[in-house]
Amino acid sequence: MRVHGTPYRTVWMEDGTVRLIDQNRLPFEFRVAECADHQATAAAIRDMTVRGAPAIGAAAAYALAQAFREAGPGDPWPYARAARATIEATRPTARDLFHGVERVWAAASAARDPVAAAGEAARALADESVESCRRIGEHGAALVPEGARVLTHCNAGWLATVDYGTALAPVYMAAAAGRRVHVWVDETRPRAQGARLTAWELAGEGISHAVIADNAAAWLMSRGEVDLVIVGADRVAANGDVVNKVGTLAKAVCAREFGVPFYVAVPPSTFDASVADGSAVPIEERSEDEVHYQTGPDESGALRRVRVTAPGSAAHNPAFDMTPARLVSGYVTECGVFRTGELPAECFGAPATA
Ligand code: MRU
Repeated sequence: MRVHGTPYRTVWMEDGTVRLIDQNRLPFEFRVAECADHQATAAAIRDMTVRGAPAIGAAAAYALAQAFREAGPGDPWPYARAARATIEATRPTARDLFHGVERVWAAASAARDPVAAAGEAARALADESVESCRRIGEHGAALVPEGARVLTHCNAGWLATVDYGTALAPVYMAAAAGRRVHVWVDETRPRAQGARLTAWELAGEGISHAVIADNAAAWLMSRGEVDLVIVGADRVAANGDVVNKVGTLAKAVCAREFGVPFYVAVPPSTFDASVADGSAVPIEERSEDEVHYQTGPDESGALRRVRVTAPGSAAHNPAFDMTPARLVSGYVTECGVFRTGELPAECFGAPATA
C-alpha cells in the first residue's frame, strides 16, 4: 500500500538488513526501523515494532535468513539452530511465525548453499503472503455490498501483513470497485491496534470509518448498525476454532446474538492442522503495564506515557482469545469463502515439516 504516495511493504530485506515499518510509533510518526542482524529482528518482533500474524511470519523468515548469512564460513547449523530458538521464543501464539521459520529452515536444509536458499525462501514467503492477501481481498469483496457497515477488531489490515491485509483486504477491494464502505474500528485495548493502526490505515486509504470503544460494539449490533464483522486470525485450529486478538470472542458472541455475519479472513500460513482445536493454542500473556499505561501526544505534540489504572492495583493481560468455530459464519481464504468443514485442503496450510 502507499504511504504519502510511496508504495511500501511492512517488512522487507535489503543487503542483509531487515527493514520494518515501526508500528510502535504509528500513527504519530512514520518511520522505517532497520534491523542489522537476526537478534535485532527478533527484538523487533518481541517488542511489537512489527506485529500482526503474517507480518511477523515474514519478519521471522527474514530473521532466520539473516542468521544463515551471519553464521560465517564453516558449519552454519549450530549458529542457525540457536538463532531459530531465539526467533521462535519471541511470540507464542501466531502460527505464521513458526510457519515462516519452518519454511526457511526446510529450504536451507535441502540446499547446497543454505545462505542463498534461506534468503530466497524468505523472499518467496513474503511474495506469496502478498498474493494470498490480495486473493483474500478479491474473494472477500463479494461480502461487502454498497453502503456496507463493517466492524473489525484489532488491526488485520496491511500493516498486520506484508501487504493488503486480511480482514481489511475485502474492504479495500470493495472500495476500489467503487462501493461506499464504512468501518467501525474497535479501539482494541490495551494496545489500541484499532485506534492507532487500523484508523491510520483507513484514513490513508480515504475510507469512511469511526473508532469505537471496545464496549460499544454490542450496542451498535443490537441497533442494526453493523452489517458484518470481519476479523483476522493468529491461528486457526483443525476444527476451525479461531485464536485472535483478545476481544474477538466477545464480538463473535454478540454477532451471533444479533444475527450479524461473523467472518474470519485467513491465509494458509495461519491455519494449524497440527492442533485439533483452539484449546491447544498457547495464549500469550503480556506485561500488565500495557493495561496500566497509555501513550500518546500531549497538546504540544510530545509523546507522553500516562497511567490509567488505580495506583497499586494489579492487572492481567491475556493478548488473545479463542472463538469457537460454531460462531464463525465463514472463512475468507485465498481460495474463496467457506464454512467450517468445507475448507479445501490447499487452503488449510501445509502441516509442520521441520
Ligand atoms: O498482538 P498483535 O497486534 O500481533 O495481534 C494481531 C492480531 O490479533 C491480528 O488480528 C491478527 O494477527 C490477524 S493479522 C492479519
